Amino acid sequence: MVRRRILLLGSRGQLGHALARSLAPLGEITAPTREQCDLYDPGAVLRLLERTRPDCIVNAAAYTAVDAAEHHPALAMQLNASLPALLAEAAGRTGAWLVHYSSDYVYSGRQATPYTETDATEPLNTYGRSKLAGDQAVAGYSRHLILRTGWVFHRFGANFLRTILRRARQQTRLQVVDDQLGAPNSAEFIAAVTAHVLRDLWRDLGAPGLYHVASQGHTSWYGYACHLLTEAGRHGLALRCSADTIQPISSQVLSRLASRPAYAVLDTARLCDTFDLVMPPWQLGVSQVVQDILRLEAS
Ligand SMILES: NC(=O)c1ccc[n+]([C@@H]2O[C@H](COP(=O)([O-])OP(=O)(O)OC[C@H]3O[C@@H](n4cnc5c(N)ncnc54)[C@H](OP(=O)(O)O)[C@@H]3O)[C@@H](O)[C@H]2O)c1
Repeated sequence: MVRRRILLLGSRGQLGHALARSLAPLGEITAPTREQCDLYDPGAVLRLLERTRPDCIVNAAAYTAVDAAEHHPALAMQLNASLPALLAEAAGRTGAWLVHYSSDYVYSGRQATPYTETDATEPLNTYGRSKLAGDQAVAGYSRHLILRTGWVFHRFGANFLRTILRRARQQTRLQVVDDQLGAPNSAEFIAAVTAHVLRDLWRDLGAPGLYHVASQGHTSWYGYACHLLTEAGRHGLALRCSADTIQPISSQVLSRLASRPAYAVLDTARLCDTFDLVMPPWQLGVSQVVQDILRLEAS
């Protein structure tokens, strides 16, 4: 039996948290925190790689503050582009596998049909440009897996689902953007897909490369919020605002610093066909996390 060493970066983030669980059956995980290794410090990263000698590097660390990236492009580029480049170079020297996560924000959103992996990229903001540069660096290395996704949520961390739940408990009215489409994805779902795909790759099934991973179906942020509050109410969460009192607005009203793609729906046929997977409907993940949050609050 091969006992693989897995180095997990960003383990305290949404996805990292879920990966720490899903990857546990695949090998021995080392998951340094920011305090143990500052990923802005290339010397510290190289020393970490030297010390841990991983068979597989899973990079769930990123600069994910989309609006703040407009003010701090160098920080976003360093974490989202230079770090993956350094990891790919190091993996190239040792033959380790490199797993990396990409974003739907590499697309312009001007398309009207789901994006496939071969569609042209054209990021609208600094975060998207930094993520694309990272993807390109990782794609230059043969033993890589890039999973491109969007609208990630988890029961912990900063995400839309938790923000809406918090506000709906405090406010009687909410306004939510209705002109951006995508699919909400639970971190647990992406982490489960990662483990399945890695296991296949290690048994020479499937092929390395870039894959879209996204739940089935799509909605707007408004549709997502309505479903979320309906689901939360159904499970007994006390709310001051319900789906009926959410007001749909256009993204122009919100006027955020970074532009977002209006259409960020990802075609997942390549992933499903290559690795024999079925994508669950996005509503399932939302429902599961609502129940997780309620269970956590009750305990
Ligand atoms: N969130 C989304 O909606 C979304 C959508 C599409 C793609 N993605 C991609 O999915 C991946 C995971 O995203 P996520 O939502 O899980 O991110 P997240 O919750 O923001 O977590 C990012 C992780 O990176 C770590 N990190 C940041 N700067 C660091 C530094 N200097 N040194 C060490 N660690 C550092 C953070 O550490 P701390 O915990 O110490 O801060 C955190 O653990 C990323 O590649 C992201 O681009 C996310």
